[in-house]
Parts: sequence; C-alpha cells; structure tokens
Amino acid sequence: MTTKTREAVDHLPGYIMAAQDIPGVERIIQLGQNELALEPSPNAIEAIHQTASALSRYPDIAHVKLRQAIADVHGLNFEQIACGAGSLELLGLLANIYCEDGVDVVVSEFGYKFFQVQCTVAGANIIIVPEPDLKADIDAIIAAVTAQTRIVFIVTPNNPTGTSLASGELKRLRNSLADEVLLVVDGAYAEFADNTKYESGFDLADAGENIVVMRTFSKAYGLAGMRVGWCYGPNDVVDAIAKVRSPNSITTQSLAAAEAAMRDQTHLNKVTHEISELRESFRQKMQDIGLQALPSDGNFVLVRFANEDQAKAVYASLIEVGIIIRPMGSYDLTDCLRVTIGTGEEMAILQDRMMALLG
Ligand SMILES: Cc1ncc(COP(=O)(O)O)c(C=O)c1O
Repeated sequence: MTTKTREAVDHLPGYIMAAQDIPGVERIIQLGQNELALEPSPNAIEAIHQTASALSRYPDIAHVKLRQAIADVHGLNFEQIACGAGSLELLGLLANIYCEDGVDVVVSEFGYKFFQVQCTVAGANIIIVPEPDLKADIDAIIAAVTAQTRIVFIVTPNNPTGTSLASGELKRLRNSLADEVLLVVDGAYAEFADNTKYESGFDLADAGENIVVMRTFSKAYGLAGMRVGWCYGPNDVVDAIAKVRSPNSITTQSLAAAEAAMRDQTHLNKVTHEISELRESFRQKMQDIGLQALPSDGNFVLVRFANEDQAKAVYASLIEVGIIIRPMGSYDLTDCLRVTIGTGEEMAILQDRMMALLG
C-alpha cells in the first residue's frame, strides 16, 4: 500500500548529486560539488571544539551571535538578517511562504535549479527565461513577469555558468519590477567575485526595496558540512522566515563555526584569492588545448567541448582515474562539464590528464 503524493511531487526528477565513490579507485579527487578545496578558518575549527561542552543544550534559536557577526562584518542591520541550515533551507522556506497555486515564479534558464523544484512543489508555475549567451537576460526577465508573478529569482555569480550580473543590472531589474514582486538574489558564490565590480544587493535591501539576498557558509567559508546560510532582506520577509523555520535547524557547533569564520575575513580573503588564481590558470590551460573555458566569478569553471560525445568521453576517462567533475545534462548543456577548482595539486593532476586526452 502506498500513500498518494501530491502531483507536483510525482513529476520531480529528484536531486542529482555528483558521483561520490568510484569502485576500485583509492584516491578520489572530488571536483563536482563546488565545495571549497582549502581548509576553513582555523578559528572555525577551534570554535567547534569549544562548543563540545554545550551539546546537551538546545542551540540559540535567535542566532544572535552569528547575526551580530554578519551585521558587523558587512555593515548590515541585525534585524534584517535571517539564518538557516544552509541557503537551501532558506530558499525552501521562501518557496513555501510565497508560492501557491496560481502564482508564477520567474527564473533564468541556467539559474541554479533547486529553487525551481521547491517552488514547483509549493504549487507555483515556473516561467523559464532563455539565456542567449549563457548570461541572464535582464530585459527578457522583465518582459516575462506577469500579473501573477510573486518572485523573480536570480543567481549571481550563477552556478553553473559562472557569470555575474553586469554593474547596474540588479538595480535596473529591481526598479523594473512591481513593488510586491519579491526579488530573490542567490549570492552563494559572491565572495569569489571581484568585489570592486560585484553588486550584492545589500544596498537595495537597506533602501527598503523588496529584495532578499541569500548567502552561504558552504562555499568560500569552507563549511558545507556544517549547513549554515543566511539572508538579508525586508523585515516582513525575515519575520515570515522566523515564523515557519524549524527553530533548531542550525546546531550549536555550526553557529559557533560560522560566527568564527565570518569574523576571520583575513582567512576568507586568502582562500578566495588562491582559488581565483587557480581558476584563471586552469582556464588558460583549457584554452591552450582548444577548449572554451567560460569566464567565472565562482570557484568553478564551465568547460565547453566540441560536442556531447567528447564531453562524455572526457568525463568517463577522468572517472577512471578517480577525478569527479560534473556533467551538465540536467541543464541541457550536454557538451559542457563543470569543474570545481581544487587544490593546486589536484588541478595539476586534472590538467595533466586533460592534456593527455586532448592536448
Ligand atoms: C547557487 C547555489 N545556491 C545555493 C546552494 C546551496 O548552498 P547551501 O549549502 O548553503 O545550502 C548552492 C550549492 O551548490 C548553489 O550552487
């Protein structure tokens, strides 16, 4: 006997992870999940040890110390910050708070997929706006908005393309939307972008615009396993999140680690600089062997091959030697593979193998 699920759930493809294990291969080089290849702040690791004595107690459900650290470091208003168990928890909450039958959600074609899934389950109709050059087309997004649109979702820098919105585009998008449409900006990779050019959207939120900016400790802060994300937006959005959030979803250890990592901006700057250098050197090597390696503001690069067969062959021969990268079939980019930037040693092994295959 099985219980009937909602129709929206029946049609979901299910979350596709990067490969994890390869039978018979001893050393795995995991470059498929956009995790940080370098160590997190030592202060975060120390904070985890320090909290061991508090394990029998529930965590602070108001996340006061972590929100204060975020507010101090970014110069933001404490009350407008909400934290969750990864940005995925917060994205799921936004979907549940704002979507229902008859509501439209506008997304860009190659924007991070998981938010679409959550909005679909919550009953929304998803309007997908084409990306002609693997870049979000702001005019087309504005044109796609309907009277039923409640959320416009944009990812910058975007996963998997690596592109960020050009200067002024976020503000232009916000200014072109009706006040009651919530603009959700997923900045999971923002710390890797060039901060002299990158538009975070925090200033728009401070100016009272209907925009919520999502951030995570899973990428540049190297704490994917701790599950902490945060967002910054209008008080009504933050209050609604507080009402529906599972109160204890972030553990005491995770809160302490994230707070310590946020306060260690020296470490953050060091790792983002190192990853950016490795990323640019990898792009150059790929271009040297005749492949298109897209410019990226994230800790990953989308590599375009001659065709789908070549992409498949490269993926398979990397798997043979334990290197896992990410096929892009779920985005219909079957001639592309996404490579997370690993350590210098990992990138050297990958590059040697790619040269041997295609060079
Ligand atoms: C664009 C984007 N948003 C959100 C997430 C989820 O991050 P978190 O670990 O904070 O849930 C990811 C993870 O890959 C991502 O690529």
